[in-house]
Amino acid sequence: MTLLMNAHRPAAAPFQALPALGLPAPALQAADPITIDVERESDVFAREALLDTAFGPARFRKTCQKLRIGRLPARGLALVARLDGQLVGTVRLWHVMAGGVSALMLGPLAVDSRYREHGIGTRLMDEAILRAKAYGHEAILLVGDAPYYARFGFVRRHTLGLRLPGPVENDRFLGLELQAGALATAKGLVKATGAVAIVSRRPMHQGQRLRRAG
Ligand SMILES: CC(C)(COP(=O)(O)OP(=O)(O)OC[C@H]1O[C@@H](n2cnc3c(N)ncnc32)[C@H](O)[C@@H]1OP(=O)(O)O)[C@@H](O)C(=O)NCCC(=O)NCCS
Repeated sequence: MTLLMNAHRPAAAPFQALPALGLPAPALQAADPITIDVERESDVFAREALLDTAFGPARFRKTCQKLRIGRLPARGLALVARLDGQLVGTVRLWHVMAGGVSALMLGPLAVDSRYREHGIGTRLMDEAILRAKAYGHEAILLVGDAPYYARFGFVRRHTLGLRLPGPVENDRFLGLELQAGALATAKGLVKATGAVAIVSRRPMHQGQRLRRAG
């Protein structure tokens, strides 16, 4: 299918009324070939292949990986973009304690190189931020290219008092307050706090179940 999308930031995603249980409906647009969806277990292999291609093996050595390894992403905040059912983008957010403040760490974000510059990264980011806010989270951190993430409101000044558990280029360590002032008192080390992923000892197979603990 040919991807024809003109606007990088389409009109505000129709983030429909959140059901009482807090599981938002995906942001769909009429005749939109891209859907943003909550990740399924069956997406694991396609997601990992996309991340391997986008970042290479260095992705496992990133400082942020220390905040993700052995953890589950925040509930409802592992999103994928699909084109004709095929996974073409991914973003996930993780629980952290940021110098005494509960927050989310975003990443990795990646879009299949064949479909970049069509607004898919923006759709994933917009949806992730909307959902994080709807779930009551107060702040999001990330390490990434400031010129890209500035368009979503991420700035360096919110992370000035924070440290990550490894080296990062300071200019790339950014924060977004979902509640005004949420990161004002954040000072100290960022630590992983998400649910622990318990992986079965059996050999991995597609659709492997991760049990939620803690
Ligand atoms: C970054 C990424 C997710 C963007 O996805 P995308 O679907 O192409 O993004 P969008 O189409 O929504 O946005 C495109 C816009 O972002 C800009 N952009 C893309 N990557 C950028 C970057 N690293 N720094 C600054 N601007 C960037 C484009 O120039 C374009 O700008 P414009 O709107 O002014 O024309 C994608 O390029 C990607 O997967 N890259 C490899 C992995 C990666 O670097 N992930 C992010 C970690 S920082």
